[in-house]
Amino acid sequence: MEIPRIIAHRGSPRAAPENTLASFRRAAADGAKWVEFDAALTVDNRVVIFHDDTLERTSDGAGLVCEAPFETLSALDAGSWFAPEFRGEPIPTLEETLETLTDLDLGFNLELKVDPGREVDLATYALPIADACWPAEAPTPLISSFSLQAVAAAKELLPKWPRGFIFNQRPDDWAEIAKTLDLTTLNGNHQHLTSDNVAEMCRAGYAVLAYTVNEPARAAELFAWGVKAVFTDIPGEMLKAAA
Ligand code: G3P
Ligand code: MG
Repeated sequence: MEIPRIIAHRGSPRAAPENTLASFRRAAADGAKWVEFDAALTVDNRVVIFHDDTLERTSDGAGLVCEAPFETLSALDAGSWFAPEFRGEPIPTLEETLETLTDLDLGFNLELKVDPGREVDLATYALPIADACWPAEAPTPLISSFSLQAVAAAKELLPKWPRGFIFNQRPDDWAEIAKTLDLTTLNGNHQHLTSDNVAEMCRAGYAVLAYTVNEPARAAELFAWGVKAVFTDIPGEMLKAAA
């Protein structure tokens, strides 16, 4: 798996509404090679691309995503909150997203955003779809989650795709976790990464990814420490700075 240095976080979310097809198109136009997006499960087990637990911030809906039926979510406007020209931009399904990414020649990191108590269900529904929709000749994606149970489910269900564990503060047992889950990447909040802890994780054989980095100078510092890639809200600017 070849991970590019700059990963467009939720698409290009300063230029287009996050986690929408418009945002992924904008990331490609910005020059990104990979996007990260958040997958979630509806009450009737459809996989949609959405970050928050609740609908209010990034759509005209209300309430919990995990309690909403797909029919309700599919009628929502996930663009107007951002800017009037994105009015009517839908919450995409995983299938639609992967079709768009294939057309745009973009690779991806699928983050499993689990509903507490249903940690395994999202992987169970999402990963067979992802495997079926993603062309065999396309770049190998990365599956990640803050949920260890979700990453374990990914290992069980789709072992051929590399996995990453996302953390805010690195847990003390990170090395054991990484070994047990046969991880490829460790995805840390850049605010808690140091040159020492990055070096330690690199030495142990893992690619360290850092989120969410919106300052080119900070990205340069992280790369100098050995960080392999950064998730950024400004892929166009970051790519220009890195060039
Ligand atoms: O995967 C990196 C990053 O997306 C994790 O945080 O909240 O932006 O999904 P969040
Ligand atoms: Mg995410």
